[in-house]
Amino acid sequence: MRYLTAGESHGKYLSGILEGFPAGVKITRDYIAAQLRRRRQAPGRSARQAGETDAFEIISGLSGDITTGAPISLLLPNAGRALPPASSLPRPGHADLPGMLKYGLLNASLIRERASARETAMRTALGSFALRLHELLGININSRVVSLGGLGPITAQTAAAELLRARRAGDTLGGVFEITAENLPAGLGGFAQWDRRLGARLGAALMGINGVKGFEVGGGFGLAGASGIEASKKPLLSGGLDGGMTNGRALTLRCAVKPVPGLPGGTLSTDLKTFRKKMSVSPTSDTTAVFAAAVVGEHAAALELAAALLEKFGGDSFAEIEQRVRDWRKRTGKILNRL
Ligand SMILES: Cc1cc2nc3c(=O)[nH]c(=O)nc-3n(C[C@H](O)[C@H](O)[C@H](O)COP(=O)(O)O)c2cc1C
Repeated sequence: MRYLTAGESHGKYLSGILEGFPAGVKITRDYIAAQLRRRRQAPGRSARQAGETDAFEIISGLSGDITTGAPISLLLPNAGRALPPASSLPRPGHADLPGMLKYGLLNASLIRERASARETAMRTALGSFALRLHELLGININSRVVSLGGLGPITAQTAAAELLRARRAGDTLGGVFEITAENLPAGLGGFAQWDRRLGARLGAALMGINGVKGFEVGGGFGLAGASGIEASKKPLLSGGLDGGMTNGRALTLRCAVKPVPGLPGGTLSTDLKTFRKKMSVSPTSDTTAVFAAAVVGEHAAALELAAALLEKFGGDSFAEIEQRVRDWRKRTGKILNRL
């Protein structure tokens, strides 16, 4: 199973293709729309999001509400189509400067268009198919924000208060989100080559989200400070992965998201045409990306876990896969339940 996205943030559409997804998975338009809504309406997003409707079109791969096994292709129209004016002022903390150097362009808007996190809407839409497959197999994948601007644990109220405080101060916040997956079959992933290790694959998928700067499995960085005796008493610290494979326990992943670099008051930059110092102002930036990134992360992880699941169990239709997963759980359960 693999996927690709295309499209710019002010282009006509974002498009996406999910290929190798099995037939016979029931998924409604409402289900996909609900996932997109979770991302769009996450706390900390700017009023700009009100302009996006995330209406989408399914172009292929479904018959009614059931997948057919053919490549699934989706279109997600963009609301604001007016291309921002050309600008030779790179926004610090963004893809602008390295992108302009890389492609030999003096117009930062041409870099921003594709580097924008608008693209993560399509990853969420494609990921909703993977999430649904897991759901039907009894695998629960969830995400939550565990800290915001260094404060944690947080509640909806403390998050709202922190976001309001930051917005009033013209500031932005980063945070940490956690993804858990329960009831995964044991033995997904592999150790025979480095790139079969599930932690490496999930790390690539999650570090591939705009603004993610850190990734941990289970105890993560904290494990480095624990002694071997301590760690051996807490198997949950392995986060559900041993030797690059699921071990039958819940999977726990965490990602650090940097504070949104676009500040309403602006950040000092250098115009690449004149080499004059100038403020780069982002009046419509989100106050934090961590809540939306958590939703994207859940979908990106679901896609990677679905790919690993299909590698292990094969199968072109949901009925085949379900049967194989059931047999496997019975077989491995005889051992795991006695440990
Ligand atoms: C859902 C989402 C929304 C984001 N919104 C903004 C934003 O409004 N303004 C901004 O400056 N950065 C925003 N970001 C973060 C930037 O996309 C990110 O910082 C930028 O791509 C550079 O990050 P990188 O160094 O990890 O690539 C958002 C990220 C995500 C995942």
